[in-house]
Amino acid sequence: MINDKKVLFSAMQSTGNLTLGNYLGALKNWTTLCDEYECFYAVADLHSITVRQEPAEFRKRARNLLTLFIAAGIDPEKNCLYYQSHVSGHAELSWILNCFTYMGELNRMTQFKDKAAKHADNINAGLYTYPVLMAADILLYQADVVPVGKDQLQHLELTRDIAQRFNSIYGDVFTVPEPYIGKSGARVMSLQDPTKKMSKSDENQNGSIYLMDDPDTIMRKCKRAVTDSEGCVRYRDEQPGIRNLIDIYCACNDLTPQEVEKEFDGKGYGDFKMAVGESVISVLKPLQDRYQDLSKNKDYIDRIVKENAEKAGYYANKTLRKVKKKVGFTEMIR
Ligand code: TYM
Repeated sequence: MINDKKVLFSAMQSTGNLTLGNYLGALKNWTTLCDEYECFYAVADLHSITVRQEPAEFRKRARNLLTLFIAAGIDPEKNCLYYQSHVSGHAELSWILNCFTYMGELNRMTQFKDKAAKHADNINAGLYTYPVLMAADILLYQADVVPVGKDQLQHLELTRDIAQRFNSIYGDVFTVPEPYIGKSGARVMSLQDPTKKMSKSDENQNGSIYLMDDPDTIMRKCKRAVTDSEGCVRYRDEQPGIRNLIDIYCACNDLTPQEVEKEFDGKGYGDFKMAVGESVISVLKPLQDRYQDLSKNKDYIDRIVKENAEKAGYYANKTLRKVKKKVGFTEMIR
C-alpha cells in the first residue's frame, strides 16, 4: 500500500508505432485507475533492447511514448510516469530474480518462441530472460494489480510463481500481483488476419491501426478489414473478423456485443465498418491533437521525467533494500 491505496504497475515498449490494440487493451484503461490505485507506468526501454535499436531513433520514440501516455489522459501529477532505465533497481532485481527462475519455465513462454522465430539472427539471452525483467518491474513496486492485454497473461503468471517461490524461502517479501483485464479491447486482432493479434511489428500495415494514423487512413483500413460472407453483424467465433470489429466498436463506445448486434441488426457490413471507422477516429483524434500540443512543451515533459523518476526510484529502492537483506547480501558501510 502507498498512501492507503493499493499499488498498480504496468509498462509499454516504445518500439514500433503504437497500435489501437495498445490503446484499447492498455492505455485507455490506465487513464481511469488513479483514484483507486497508486499507479506506476513505465516506458519499458530496457525491454526494447532485446531487439536492436538505432540509438537516436530509440531515444526519440521513448520520449514520444511518454508524451503519448499523457496525451492519452494519464495525469502525470497523479500517476508516476517514467523511463524504466532511469531506475536502476529494475535491472538489479531482475538479476536476483533470474536466480529464482527455472529455464524450464522460460522455455514455455510463447512470446519468446514467437520473437525468437522473428529475430532468428539475434536470439540473445535478454530475449530469453525478458519475462524475469517484467517480474522485477512489477515486484519492485509491490504491485497488487497489473493492467495488461491478454497477450501478457502468461508473463504475469510467471511473475506470480516467482514471487510465491521467493516468499516461500524468505518470508513475505513480495506482494503477489493479480492481472487486471479491461471489460473490452483486451485482445484486438489484426484487421487483415483476425486470428492474429494486432501488432506493432506486423509487416502488413493494413492489419493495424496506428495511433497516429490520420482519419482517412483509419477509415480506409476499417473498410478493407477482412470479414466473411455471412452478411450479418453477429458476435460469434465463426465470424472472427466481424467479432473483432464488434470488440473494437464496444471498446470505443463502452457498449456490450449484444448492444452492438442490436444496433446493426438488418444492416450490412458497409454501414458497420463505416461506424467502426468513425468511432476509432473520434477516439484517436483528440489524443493526436493533445499529443501535438504536448510535444511542443519540452520543459513540462522534462519536469515530469525528472520528478517521476525520483518518485519511482524511492519506492523501488525500498523494496530492493529489503530483498538484498533477505537474500543475505552484506550491507554497505556509509
Ligand atoms: P507491449 O509494449 O507489447 O504492449 C503494451 C500493452 O498493450 C497490450 N497490447 C494489446 N492489447 C490488446 N490487443 C492487442 N492487440 C494488444 N497488443 C498489445 C499489451 O498486453 C500490454 O498491456 N513486455 C510488455 C511491457 C512490459 C510490462 C511490464 C507490462 C514490461 N514490463 C510489466 C506489464 C507489466 C510489452 O512488451 O508490452
